[in-house]
Amino acid sequence: MILVTGALGMVGSYVKETFNDEEIVLTDLPEMDVCQKELVFRLVHKYKPKLILHLAAETDVDKCEGDPDHAFRTNTMGVQNIALACQSIGAEMVYISTGGVFNGKLGQIHTEFDLPNPLNVYSKAKYEGERIVMGLLNKYYIFRAGWMIGGGAQKDKKFVGKILELCKTRKELEIVNDKFGSPTFAKDFVRGIKKIIKTGDYGLYHLVNSGACTRYDIALEIIKLLKLKVKINPVSSDRFPLPAPRAESEAMRNYKLDLLGINPMPGWKEGLAEYLEDWDRKLCL
Ligand SMILES: NC(=O)c1ccc[n+]([C@@H]2O[C@H](COP(=O)([O-])OP(=O)(O)OC[C@H]3O[C@@H](n4cnc5c(N)ncnc54)[C@H](OP(=O)(O)O)[C@@H]3O)[C@@H](O)[C@H]2O)c1
Repeated sequence: MILVTGALGMVGSYVKETFNDEEIVLTDLPEMDVCQKELVFRLVHKYKPKLILHLAAETDVDKCEGDPDHAFRTNTMGVQNIALACQSIGAEMVYISTGGVFNGKLGQIHTEFDLPNPLNVYSKAKYEGERIVMGLLNKYYIFRAGWMIGGGAQKDKKFVGKILELCKTRKELEIVNDKFGSPTFAKDFVRGIKKIIKTGDYGLYHLVNSGACTRYDIALEIIKLLKLKVKINPVSSDRFPLPAPRAESEAMRNYKLDLLGINPMPGWKEGLAEYLEDWDRKLCL
């Protein structure tokens, strides 16, 4: 049986359909607050899962910047609680990290062998989570995701959801083209996790759709796929100042999975197209 934390979030919304042949227990706040060690232990010892898919996190990067204690409590110590609980029953753990651990220059694409250097509080907290998992467990998978795409009309508060909303009323949009990242369609991501956790090849992996790009590129692709009559103008990120600094490049490639010959991820344009089809047919959960 697989126990899932943070199951009501964007990635969590694809777990039930993807793991439909597995017994799964979906948990989220308030009944499973990963910051509360006793609560975590009680639930983990009740269900005794063979694996915990740890998705729970504070994912608001700017909120983390303003409240580091909240960020480290949830995104680092919460990870420690889950890792210790896995250790206590011999369960495997899946932890999701982020390309934000990197601080690359525009155009740079990182492999697992590049050194992390997180720029903001969210990414530092997620990176410390990685180190805790590696220190406490042997049977773990850490998957670094990029710019997550998913959730559909109900849950998509991220870039694609915002663009679709803006396109309802605007004829022209300004979109940042000086930050480089790796789109990661959450459905592809969860399907990928399902395949890789069957291998027993424990360790840290990048798991993103292939072909890094800027947000401007993503917006252009949305307009093209949906045949919208909206003009997209490239702008510098200085145009939209944010509390948390972002690296010029947090783009990644799935180098270790390529080397093993088990990279399951399609290109980001394919992932985006499937997502927009799902959205159209209202198939997103
Ligand atoms: N979204 C991205 O762009 C992105 C990129 C790279 C990596 N990741 C990582 O991918 C994983 C899944 O992210 P996601 O996109 O699905 O995020 P999400 O949509 O924000 O979902 C996270 C879920 O965790 C819950 N949660 C927050 N604090 C919790 C706590 N203390 N105890 C238990 N549950 C808690 C949230 O509840 P509330 O909504 O009530 O707070 C939410 O349901 C996270 O580890 C995240 O760091 C995300």
